[in-house]
Amino acid sequence: MKDKILHLLRENEKNFISGQLISEKLGVSRTAIWKYMNALKEEGYHIESISKRGYKLLSSPDLLTFEEISNSLNTKYIGKNIMYFQTIESTNNKAKELANHLSNGTVIISEEQTLGRGRLGRVWTSPKYKGIWMSIVLKPDIDPQSVAMVTQIGAAAVVKTLSELGIQTYIKWPNDIILNGKKVCGILTEMSGEINKVNYIVMGIGINVNIDKEEFPEELKNIATSLSCEIGTKVNRKEIVTNLLNNFEALYDEIIHKNSIESSIKICRENSILIGKEVRIIKRNQEHFGKAINLSNTGELIVQYPDGSVEEVICGEVSIRGLNGNYTP
Ligand code: BTN
Repeated sequence: MKDKILHLLRENEKNFISGQLISEKLGVSRTAIWKYMNALKEEGYHIESISKRGYKLLSSPDLLTFEEISNSLNTKYIGKNIMYFQTIESTNNKAKELANHLSNGTVIISEEQTLGRGRLGRVWTSPKYKGIWMSIVLKPDIDPQSVAMVTQIGAAAVVKTLSELGIQTYIKWPNDIILNGKKVCGILTEMSGEINKVNYIVMGIGINVNIDKEEFPEELKNIATSLSCEIGTKVNRKEIVTNLLNNFEALYDEIIHKNSIESSIKICRENSILIGKEVRIIKRNQEHFGKAINLSNTGELIVQYPDGSVEEVICGEVSIRGLNGNYTP
C-alpha cells in the first residue's frame, strides 16, 4: 500500500493530492492513508500535509528500495525483480542461495552487509546506507569459459555510470575500480555450472559511496576510498544504482545477442589503469613480472614478459610497479 501511495504522490509531484482522492483511488479509509503517510515520513519521505488540500511529496530519502529505483529504470529484465534488505550477511550469498528460483536479472540489494565478501576470501566492509551492496543474478546461455567476460561488462558499466556523473575512475583489471589511486568499487563474480553449461552467474558489486575516511578499517585507509571522500560531498546512491543497472543491461545485451563484449572492452581499454604499466601478476601462488600491453577482445589481460613472450592472462592478482620500484596492490 505504501508503494501505491508513493506512486500517487509522485504522479502529482508538484501538487497537493487530497486524502479523499487517494482513499477513493486505493479503496482504503482516510485514517489508513494518514497512518501510511506517517510511516512514510518516518522512513525519511518529506511529505507536506495541509488540511483541506491534502498531501504533497517534497523529497524522498536515498533508499535503495524497488519503489525508489524502479521509477528511473528503463531496463527490460535487469532489476525488474528487486529483493531489498535493510541488513543481510552478503547479497552474493543470498543470491546464490535463491538463484535457482530467481528470474534472470533479479537484483538483490541491501543497505548493509554483516559478512560482505571480497575476492580471495577477503572481507568487504559494507556499512549501513553508506554504499551500494548489490548482486545481479544472470542466467545467460554462454560457455562457462566466457563467464570472466561478464566481470568486464560489470566494470565497464560502473566506470561509464560514474563518468556520466562527472567522476573519472579507472579499471584495475579484472575487477577493481580505482578513484584517485584508491579502490572505490570491487566486483565479485561467482557462478554455478557444469562443464559446458552455466546454471547462473551472481555478479556482486560493492561501491563505497558515502563512507567517511575514519570508517575504513586501519589496514584499508591507504588503499580504499569512497566517492564522498574524494568529491567532498555526499553522493546520491539511488541515481548511481539506476544508471548502473540501465548501463549494465545495455552492455550485457551485447554478449547475449551478438556474443561479443566489444563496447565493454572499448570502455575497459580506454579507462584501464594497467595498460602500459610494469606489473606483477600472482597466479596460483607464483609471481610473474611483465608489462600490461592490452586487453584482448574477450577480456584477458595481454602481458609481455622480459623475454619478449606474450601471454593472455585469464585471471590473477595484479599489482603495479611504482616509481620507487615497489609493487602496490
Ligand atoms: C573485491 O574487490 O574483492 C570484490 C568485492 C565485492 C563486494 C560486493 S558487495 C555486494 C556483493 N556481496 C558480497 O558479499 N560481495 C559483493
